Amino acid sequence: MANIDQTIFKGRDFISLHDFSQDELNCIIDVARELKVDQKAGRPRQVLQDKTLGMIFTKSSTRTRVSFEVGMYQLGGHALFLSGRDIQLGRGETIADTARVLSRMVDGIMIRTFSHQEVLDLAEFSTIPIINGLTDLLHPCQVLADLMTIQEHKGRLSGLKLAYVGDGNNMAHSLMFGGAKMGLHVVIASPPGYKPDPKIVALAQADAKNNGGFVEVVDDPMEAVKGADVLYTDVWASMGQEEEAQIRMAAFKGYQINSNALKLANPSAIVLHCLPAHRGEEITEDVIEGAQSVVFDEAENRLHAQKAIMALTM
Ligand code: CP
Ligand code: NVA
Repeated sequence: MANIDQTIFKGRDFISLHDFSQDELNCIIDVARELKVDQKAGRPRQVLQDKTLGMIFTKSSTRTRVSFEVGMYQLGGHALFLSGRDIQLGRGETIADTARVLSRMVDGIMIRTFSHQEVLDLAEFSTIPIINGLTDLLHPCQVLADLMTIQEHKGRLSGLKLAYVGDGNNMAHSLMFGGAKMGLHVVIASPPGYKPDPKIVALAQADAKNNGGFVEVVDDPMEAVKGADVLYTDVWASMGQEEEAQIRMAAFKGYQINSNALKLANPSAIVLHCLPAHRGEEITEDVIEGAQSVVFDEAENRLHAQKAIMALTM
């Protein structure tokens, strides 16, 4: 158990893993593990009784929506689904006004949207915790669940090699941030033109230096997966990039987690994917359904990890 005063989380936003120290992330993961054990033992911890989470979605979701809603219910509270199409935000009401109104009525906001700046603006004008449920730039809740999953399967985080093959997108960015903070060796293999944002890479490399990790970006996916303990991939075209799908299909050819990649990895490597997956594109059917895949443990851990975030911040 991380030796940390849990009250330091109250009222804080959860927008980027870069904003949290290694000790803090360890603490959130420890709480997630405790909540998971208690829930499975039939001892639900209802620490958010009478609290309400507003959930703003301007993009689709299965895991994020269900895990936040069920998580809030299990913690004794209530969650409100607010579709971007239906609330006044979708008709031009400002983020600043939305933030101030919701702050008077709910106890926390989870938002999934396109622009990362919108989440930062929401946080600036809110007086309640803001949780980032995915932007074009980052997906921190997913990576918190990923780190928890890796720790469950490997018994540790520090010193492991994680190879991410594919688009230098929100997943790649958050994996660099989370991996750097937890002392992993994170290698991102992306084709030219689809590399991660150099500003995020630089921040993650600085974090890595201070936390015993290592972050690098390479071209060759096979070089990246060599000896890796964790293989990770994500869709070639993210939400909002549907029109680029054909071009991307060609650009990402070869950036696939398949049986060849698995052969080059550590024999005990595990395979992660945030889901939804496109079988036959970024990952093959045999690998995602194979013995080394832990993608459904990973999906389940969204629930436990986010319960920890809500219990600690709200
Ligand atoms: N991985 C993830 O965030 O899934 P959803 O898009 O279904 O929420
Ligand atoms: N990169 C993907 C992640 C989905 C969970 C997207 O943004 O669509």
